[in-house]
Amino acid sequence: MPDLSKLPPDFTWGVATAAYQIEGAVGEDGRKPSIWDTFSRVPGAIDNADTGDVACDHYHRWAEDVELIRKLGIEAYRFSVAWPRVMPDGTGQVNTAGLAFYDRLVDALLDAGIKPMVTLYHWDLPQALQDKGGWPERATAEAFADYATVVAGALGDRVTEWVTVNEPLCVSWIGHLEGRMAPGVRDLGLAVRASHHTLLGHGLATQAIRAAVARPVEVGIVLNPSPCEPGSERPEDVAAARRADGHTNRWWLDPLYGRGYPADMIETYGHEPPVQPGDLDLIATPTEFLGLNYYFRQLVVDDPEGPAPYARQIPVPGSMETAMGWEMYPSGLEQLLVSVSETYRPARVIVTESGSAWRDELTPDGEIQDKERTDYLEQHIDACASAAAQGVPIDGYYVWSLLDNFEWSFGYDKRFGLVHVDYDSQRRTIKASGHQYANLIAQHRQVKAVG
Ligand code: FCB
Repeated sequence: MPDLSKLPPDFTWGVATAAYQIEGAVGEDGRKPSIWDTFSRVPGAIDNADTGDVACDHYHRWAEDVELIRKLGIEAYRFSVAWPRVMPDGTGQVNTAGLAFYDRLVDALLDAGIKPMVTLYHWDLPQALQDKGGWPERATAEAFADYATVVAGALGDRVTEWVTVNEPLCVSWIGHLEGRMAPGVRDLGLAVRASHHTLLGHGLATQAIRAAVARPVEVGIVLNPSPCEPGSERPEDVAAARRADGHTNRWWLDPLYGRGYPADMIETYGHEPPVQPGDLDLIATPTEFLGLNYYFRQLVVDDPEGPAPYARQIPVPGSMETAMGWEMYPSGLEQLLVSVSETYRPARVIVTESGSAWRDELTPDGEIQDKERTDYLEQHIDACASAAAQGVPIDGYYVWSLLDNFEWSFGYDKRFGLVHVDYDSQRRTIKASGHQYANLIAQHRQVKAVG
């Protein structure tokens, strides 16, 4: 059991989702295609040729899903807005029918006593912008700021917490260097350009949100750092771990906290990010919080052949792995929280995603006894509690995810939900881990009341 007494009394207990992974209804009410609609149709790109066309049908079942969150006593809900619903061509014309969906959702959450946290970009770039070059182009960062103005203008009277970009690492490195995610590009030069423009987009959107909303807001970016360790004591592997750390962690955190891009990584990439005067100040615009998504650590060896940063991840001997093949390593979360706060001093830290996929099975009674997921959650929450006890200003934890959903290139086979989804009937069933999460929240309330 996690030591809940170490968590701050105002700690927020949440769950997270993302638009393309749950909404479905990809052609409804004026939404136009995103890069994920396109990518999911590339033969071989997604396991089982799955797409987000229907997903969890959340676009129609949102009221039921809000009710599930309420029933579990979960205090906050992090969801993302689909840019191609709100501005189907990426720029220009606003689609009021698309915006109205999020308006209803926010009202329903507030009526249920659930705090909304809105992510503006969780990877579903309008295809129209990709056709003009996408994130490697500066114009995409500028379009993102216009879109942020529209969404913040519509929801900012009720939404206080805003995330600009989710995991720019995945957008840039996985989407433009490794090609395993949309838009499926494999080009280091373009990836470096994309990385700069996602960070610039964050800075521009931060300012746009503040300008659009008349009351105080809290804005942050969400990163997915990992502890990076050498797979052996060989000097080549030690150097590889340093490069992996640069690629995964410092490339993002350094510019966000005013240190500029790390010189060693510019040298490793052999490409300069296309920085214009004033960009680094924009990227380092102070924020109210830093969101961290944590799933695994990286044990790496030197890989001179491999894509940048020329460091290959190897399995950790004897480790327990989730259905994703990711090592279960809760102390990595504590380590990250402590080291990131010591090095960069963010005002607040929120764990904006943490969770795990397992091979869930329905019992004959229709239940899911997912003890591994419960253990995973308890151990990662305990890691947060230990970090809090060491002075880390952590004040929230969002489970990935509320529902089983479309897990990007892995399709529907990888189930991360606290709630099971039967994709044929769209029936939702709360898993044992969901009930246990509700218990933890209730217990923390008691600790608060006593303390
Ligand atoms: C994160 C993503 C999220 C989900 C989890 C498992 O990288 O932000 O959408 O896919 O991984």
